[in-house]
Amino acid sequence: MEISSAEFVISNTDVTKCPEGHLPEFAFIGRSNVGKSSLINMLTGKKNLAMTSQKPGKTQLINHFFINKQWYLVDLPGYGYAQRGKEGRENIGRIIESYIRKREQLTNLFVLIDCRHEPLDIDLSFMEWLGNNGVPFSIIFTKTDKLGKNKLIDNIRNYKEKLMEVWEELPPIFLTSSFSITGRDEVLDYIASIIDDLKKQ
Ligand code: GTP
Ligand code: MG
Repeated sequence: MEISSAEFVISNTDVTKCPEGHLPEFAFIGRSNVGKSSLINMLTGKKNLAMTSQKPGKTQLINHFFINKQWYLVDLPGYGYAQRGKEGRENIGRIIESYIRKREQLTNLFVLIDCRHEPLDIDLSFMEWLGNNGVPFSIIFTKTDKLGKNKLIDNIRNYKEKLMEVWEELPPIFLTSSFSITGRDEVLDYIASIIDDLKKQ
């Protein structure tokens, strides 16, 4: 899929104030600092569309971007950022949970995982929660530029094995780097294929 336009629409904490209509929506989630906002910029080819930071906890709101005047990309706050404190974490948790549970336009959620990390309980239990709530999701391993090829293959294999302990079938898996611009076509073509399927229904 080519990106012909990408525009910021609205930021908020209230799912009822998200854009109206029935256009399909694809959201990005994962731990703080995993690279959600950077990935959105890489996919859209717009460097400063979503705000990024070296410090975790940058994105605090639900951010909608309108793509090709056809569908929405959504940048969400990261979960599990310790320095927000218990109250801050619970607050962000509530925003994320209500968006995921109530947003009917949400077509697919991309769960981002830093490819350098061992499988973490916080991500594994989040994906189980998605499964229990019937939310379609895929996994994107981010920051692949940070690992050598063999280590990367090892880590992904290890992660898949861990997932297979719980899941009968693995979700679609993508490998990306926002720095070296890898995985862009794969993710965009996947989104395009889902949008095409929806049109046929
Ligand atoms: P929050 O909004 O705080 O939840 O973070 P986020 O998941 O949106 O992460 P963000 O895109 O702001 O990136 C966090 C840090 O990781 C920044 O310093 C980015 O430059 C860096 N980063 C993001 N993607 C990549 C990547 O593909 N490779 C490398 N090496 N660094 C990356
Ligand atoms: Mg962010």
